[in-house]
Amino acid sequence: MTFIRNRWYVAAWDGEVGPQPLGRKICNENIVMYRKLDGEVVAMRDACPHRLLPLSMGIKEGDNLRCKYHGLVVGPDGAPTEMPLRNDPVNKKLCVQTYRVTEKHRFVWVWIGDQDKADEALVPDLWPCSAEGWTFDGGLMTVGCDYRLFIDNLMDLTHETYVHMGSIGQIELMEAPLETRIEGDKVILSRWMPGVDAPPFWKAFLGKEGPVNRWQICEFIEPCSVIIDVGVSPVEAGDTLESHDSGVRGFVIDSMTPETETSCHYFWGMARNFAIDDHGVTQRIKDGQDHVFNEDIEVLERQQKSIAENPDLKLRILNIDSGGAHARRIIERLMADA
Ligand code: FES
Ligand SMILES: [Fe+2]
Repeated sequence: MTFIRNRWYVAAWDGEVGPQPLGRKICNENIVMYRKLDGEVVAMRDACPHRLLPLSMGIKEGDNLRCKYHGLVVGPDGAPTEMPLRNDPVNKKLCVQTYRVTEKHRFVWVWIGDQDKADEALVPDLWPCSAEGWTFDGGLMTVGCDYRLFIDNLMDLTHETYVHMGSIGQIELMEAPLETRIEGDKVILSRWMPGVDAPPFWKAFLGKEGPVNRWQICEFIEPCSVIIDVGVSPVEAGDTLESHDSGVRGFVIDSMTPETETSCHYFWGMARNFAIDDHGVTQRIKDGQDHVFNEDIEVLERQQKSIAENPDLKLRILNIDSGGAHARRIIERLMADA
């Protein structure tokens, strides 16, 4: 196993789950999700208790799902309410496993592992995605790589120079000193660039000329998220690494839910505290991220393939990999505990 059990994982964007069943593999488990008439999300094992046809192919009837093969009906609690032969007594033993679900920070989260351990207080704190005065949107890509390769990638901003040569790569980024620290189960990589020229994107939203302080702070949040605090503020505002709300600020949000050992669902987006009602800005940022993340995915999928093709070789750790290496160590430790 490569992931921590007994955790909340992002299973979908809030807008993806509607009345019609949606099937998705999360941590090697096939899960079907749908919304009941009252809006609550149901998640259960995506296999009919009769002959295992995916229930996600089924027909929605009220809050129930009718299997597309022989018509067995399952209720939102996973218990059958009607047998293929309508007059047969309902066999409650044919129960489908259900999952605890919660909605927070624009995502639908599913608890993987022992269901009685699910506690909503344990949902990873992606606060910029739902805080007052902020707006958040993004997308989903299913990627053919181990989610930990993605964490390595996001916890190492030096890759920007080459992977993103044609888009966001900038040589100045490499010159600013990078600090790594560990706080409990978090890994934080920070880069503070005092008195620099704001890049065009940030200058436009700051609406002000003159030198700025710029920051990039990557934070690994177990089991599988990385959020990157980015922005600029005017030098005279005196912002610091610890407190920087005088300018424009955003968070690149990344949550890589394992699908299998060698694939993951990449939920990405940007939360921001400027131009929050401007849908055009939201769309342009999304388009930009879509382009940049496809550059990462091309590399990551090829890397995963190369790992499979070279079983006698191992991944090496250089200085630039320390963020990802710390995150992997935390995952290893929590996998053993959970
Ligand atoms: S497989 Fe679902 S009713 Fe037979
Ligand atoms: Fe990247």
